[in-house]
Amino acid sequence: MRKQTTTDTVPLASHVSARDGYELWLGYRPVQPAEHLVAYRELLREIAVPGDSPTLAAVRAELQRGLTGLLDRPVDVGRGRLRHAGLLAGTRQTSSQIAAFDWDEQIAAQGPEGCLIRSVVGDVSPVDGEPAIVIAAQSELGVLYGCFHFLRLLQTHQPLAGLAVAERPRIQLRLLDHWDNLDGSIERGYAGKSLWKWEELPGTLDPRYRDYARACASIGINGAVLNNVSADPRILRADYLEKVAALADVLRPYGIKVYLSVNFVSPLQPSGASDRLRGEGGIGSLNTADPLDPDVGRWWSEKANEIYRHIPDFGGFLVKASSEGMPGPPDYGRTHAEGANMLARALAPHGGIVMWRAFVYDADTDADRAKRAYKEFMPLDGQFDDNVFVQVKNGPVDFQPREPIHPLFGAMPRTPLMMEFQITQEYLGQAIHLVYLAPLWKEVLNFDTFAQGEGSTVTRVIDGSLHGYPMTGIAGVANVGFDRNWCGHHFAQANWYAFGRLAWDHDLSSEVIAEEWIRATLTNDDGAVATIRDMMMGSWEACVNYMTPLGLHHIMREGHHYGPALEYDAGREDWNPQYYHRADATGLGFDRSSSGSNAVAQYYPPVRDLFDNADWNSPRATCPEKYLLWFHHVPWDDEMRSGRTLWDELAWRYYHGVEYVSRMLESWVALKPHIDPQRYEEVLRKLSTQEAHAIEWPRVCLAYFQDFSRRPIPVDIPRGVIHEAEAAMVEPPDAIT
Ligand code: GCU
Repeated sequence: MRKQTTTDTVPLASHVSARDGYELWLGYRPVQPAEHLVAYRELLREIAVPGDSPTLAAVRAELQRGLTGLLDRPVDVGRGRLRHAGLLAGTRQTSSQIAAFDWDEQIAAQGPEGCLIRSVVGDVSPVDGEPAIVIAAQSELGVLYGCFHFLRLLQTHQPLAGLAVAERPRIQLRLLDHWDNLDGSIERGYAGKSLWKWEELPGTLDPRYRDYARACASIGINGAVLNNVSADPRILRADYLEKVAALADVLRPYGIKVYLSVNFVSPLQPSGASDRLRGEGGIGSLNTADPLDPDVGRWWSEKANEIYRHIPDFGGFLVKASSEGMPGPPDYGRTHAEGANMLARALAPHGGIVMWRAFVYDADTDADRAKRAYKEFMPLDGQFDDNVFVQVKNGPVDFQPREPIHPLFGAMPRTPLMMEFQITQEYLGQAIHLVYLAPLWKEVLNFDTFAQGEGSTVTRVIDGSLHGYPMTGIAGVANVGFDRNWCGHHFAQANWYAFGRLAWDHDLSSEVIAEEWIRATLTNDDGAVATIRDMMMGSWEACVNYMTPLGLHHIMREGHHYGPALEYDAGREDWNPQYYHRADATGLGFDRSSSGSNAVAQYYPPVRDLFDNADWNSPRATCPEKYLLWFHHVPWDDEMRSGRTLWDELAWRYYHGVEYVSRMLESWVALKPHIDPQRYEEVLRKLSTQEAHAIEWPRVCLAYFQDFSRRPIPVDIPRGVIHEAEAAMVEPPDAIT
């Protein structure tokens, strides 16, 4: 029998922790300076959250914890009416005081997950003219989101007078995709083992599950795919479904639905069932997984029924099919749509959805890997069932430090496309490098596809406003693991945070999100906040510069994807680095222009033309420099916008990127008085390693490219600080896999 717990009674695991990062942005340090504290205490004399549900219990627990910390005094959260100046939270069903307000229309306008936060005074106040703050929502989940928002206002020292907040998410499904394996390892995970202790479930529930749920809910995440996209069929076995159900029970009060990645050949008999397929076979008794075979459809329907008996609000399936060795419908001569629809029909009676990934490529058949997904999926537009998303990575290759947008965005008006971002820093320095990813995501979201004329941004594709998608979604490949600080690097927490905040409201700026995170997590000292924010804001561009400037890509070591690799490697299973960089005596870069692979033709005309302009020596050149070597093979002596030659610009960018890391390190050292000792030291160590590893990039890459360019490394590049870093050079740890 599973241990039953309620949100009101479970000891909250993070309560005992010091400043070791466990508390994430929910540390709720006492408000300083004193004038804010006095004002908040004065206003928040009483807190009332009437109602009995698990979600409202979670609201009370969070407010009690948060306000006790922030106000630096014990706070009780009542279940009755509000009687004095204070905070009241609920729905019109749970609070008669809220029902008495004439706010129904405005509450309804915020939708099922939105909320209002308002200051009420004088006649309107429910407490005899004393000031009150009211958090009102249509649903209890909206109340929970409102409370987290309110706590964030305090954490960031906002004034509470005259509050008139109206919050609602802009995208319906805001998911974390965990690439967690059943053996506890995490694919592309850099923060220890999986959070999910499959061997202990369902009997024992680690208190961390609840803290994970709190963290997710605090930033509006409302779903979690629990297991790796390269899915082990066993996840659908009855014993695992019990475990999944136990997790779902913990996450439910926080509005987080669970989803599973499924293996397309799950209905097959275990191992060896089919000689046509790679992989281990399935968990069923069939000898085919052909999506058009009635037995296969029946198998999935029965499996869906079984899942929903365990988890009535189960979200649905994520599927990686015909990708990197995973089986899929093409193995049976069927299309992706036929495969996705068969699963969709099994889930539809229960309200579940399918997220079918478009990450397909094949070294044997693709002359230009970047073109494949568009070629396979675009023609299928309109053929998917209503409850199917096609989930698309932000770029056409694979979560590189920088990629142009994926050409499918805008190209499938009749198929809801779900964005897949990667929060875990597979190609961006993993848990060693400080790289704040919000600017990357904003660059992608703000990109104008011109699919329906100017203003057809990627944002408008995925929030449904461009094509009128009936359902909308965004997913981030999670960076959390069992490490004490969840993400391996304290600053990687900011990426988890930023993903959630952007999924909720893509209009938020990277700066605002960074500042919220810093104030809630590290310090509220204005000067320190500005310094840290500035470090973060340039960190992604710096990483692009010291790893893959000017549109270079996929020149990381094979397998673990950490550190540079440019040489031909006969042992490589897929493409060699030269496939991507194409360095030769004439120049550098992959020609995807109309005279090359013509990948540019997959974009809408103005974008296609923008990327295509290959006449790089002419003033009419339009290809943004940041994508130059992605789309063009450019002669070494061509002049860049800076006036430098390609070769000199390359060297300049490489070293400029490294120099930025050196400056982050210097800034961090100066921040010592503002940061608690443990986190200060841990980040300092990471930054030192980052600096040492960053310098390896120009060293290796320029030395290699120089064999082709036959030009000297320019002398005026910013290498002053770098010699120290070179002196401290260390090898990347073996542990990075
Ligand atoms: C990348 C990554 C793999 C992952 C794959 C995917 O290729 O390196 O580990 O499985 O993406 O997104 O499916």
